[in-house]
Amino acid sequence: MTQALSQLAVVGVIGAGAMGAGIAQVAAQGGHPVKLLDNRPGAAAQAIAGIRAQFEKMAAKGKLSPELASAAGARLQAVDQVSELADAALVVEAIVENLQVKQTLFKELEAVVSGGCILASNTSSISITAIGAALASPQRLAGLHFFNPAPLMALVEVVSGLATAPEVAGTLYDTALAWGKTPVHAKSTPGFIVNRVARPYYAEALRVLTEGGADCATLDACCREAGGFRMGPFELMDMIGHDVNFAVTSSVWRAFFNDPRFLPSLIQQDLVDAGFLGKKSGRGFYSYEEGASKPPPATVPALARPHAIVLYGQSAAARAIALRLQANGVAFTQAQAKGDTLATAGDATLRVTDGRTATRCAFDTQTPNTVLIDLALDYSKATRLAVSVAARCDDAAANSAIGLLQAADFAVSQLQDIPGLIVMRTVAMLANEAADAVNQGVCDAAAVDTAMRLGVNYPCGPLAWANSLGLAQLSTVLGHLAQTYGEDRYRTSPLIQHHVFAAKDFS
Ligand code: NAI
Repeated sequence: MTQALSQLAVVGVIGAGAMGAGIAQVAAQGGHPVKLLDNRPGAAAQAIAGIRAQFEKMAAKGKLSPELASAAGARLQAVDQVSELADAALVVEAIVENLQVKQTLFKELEAVVSGGCILASNTSSISITAIGAALASPQRLAGLHFFNPAPLMALVEVVSGLATAPEVAGTLYDTALAWGKTPVHAKSTPGFIVNRVARPYYAEALRVLTEGGADCATLDACCREAGGFRMGPFELMDMIGHDVNFAVTSSVWRAFFNDPRFLPSLIQQDLVDAGFLGKKSGRGFYSYEEGASKPPPATVPALARPHAIVLYGQSAAARAIALRLQANGVAFTQAQAKGDTLATAGDATLRVTDGRTATRCAFDTQTPNTVLIDLALDYSKATRLAVSVAARCDDAAANSAIGLLQAADFAVSQLQDIPGLIVMRTVAMLANEAADAVNQGVCDAAAVDTAMRLGVNYPCGPLAWANSLGLAQLSTVLGHLAQTYGEDRYRTSPLIQHHVFAAKDFS
């Protein structure tokens, strides 16, 4: 059993940049005396002035009592020398992202602090095992990975290197909890949890863009309005900055010895080469120059309501569409489940994508007039759906299928006939990566879902999403993607395969 550090314990924070200042704020608010150190003269004092102003603002808004705000502010002290951290029980490092510089600092610290002092790094990409290798007592070092901005983001990844003592990770976990954070345990593997499992959110969208599936605005709108993601992948990459995002993608890819799962995209390379770094440079996928506005998503104009609508079975999509049609006074009939047919409208047959293209699905099922719809987080709430139309589907049938969805109040974006549309393949690959992280002992299933909900604001943990989709369906989607591309990138996690055969899920 471990417990949180006492509030009397001095916390040292090294690096008074965006992250260090945020961590110092969290620790001071958590009741600890905090010593902040930066090698840029004046930087620590300036950061402390900023934190105190934050506390005052919080008091003015009633989020913190004036007494607590001034007490927390008074607990912060700027220091100039590592030797002044001798009485710390915990030192969190948030300096430049460089292994040698971090190792040198930790060695210097180790010579100064007591034997029981815990050392932690806020690194987002450097191996905790590698940092620890320079220490006489690597067991006292762990990762304590906050997200930006640290005072607002609840998630903290507590990262154990090969030598980290379980009690050290336990104490950090309990301390983060006492600070009001939601910690998760992770093993020190490339990208830890969030920066690894989030890769497909960008990678699949970049793939679809490379293959001409649709433009950025349309794909972003589908991810938001059907997928329930707060931001689409392209607008998010523009916000993160392509230099940063490409560097993370490349470093995770290299760290996994060039595993094609993590292969970066040439589009990212091009944007970085061009200096189109996103919002901060005025141009990325979108323009941020003065007066520029985002292009609207491609939306099929209103079509006539089709006749002879039949909905098959009781899938989530069929039930939601039935309710939406009813709400709009549109006539339809319901029939027993018929294979994976979702609906028919006029001469069209609609199915939810299973990772095949519409054209292949039409060929395999001998149904030329096939239209596929994308996955939605919740078909009863989605405002937009992507569709793809088989090559030999006639126009009248395609219009009937799209007209049905419009009659159920979906805005419809027709994508080129890429496999797995956009939301389904993205969610399938997120869940695949999450499953592999669990299978490889990086973290447990609950941790990965918590990390993705809180670290990157996903509307649902990828494994909970996999459960609700059904692992058999997920595995079918991944299998079809792997067949289409013939790439190891789309290999199905052994844990998903196991769970399908064992009739289990991730709950
Ligand atoms: P930053 O560049 O804003 O701040 C770094 C600070 O460290 C600067 O004030 C610099 O003067 C100081 N510094 C550099 N070397 C030092 C040394 N040897 N001794 C004392 N001070 C030194 O960087 P930021 O964004 O705060 O990142 C810091 C660390 O946190 C990095 O390891 C980064 O990977 C990690 N991180 C960053 C996140 C972000 O979104 N910015 C999120 C999570 C982790």
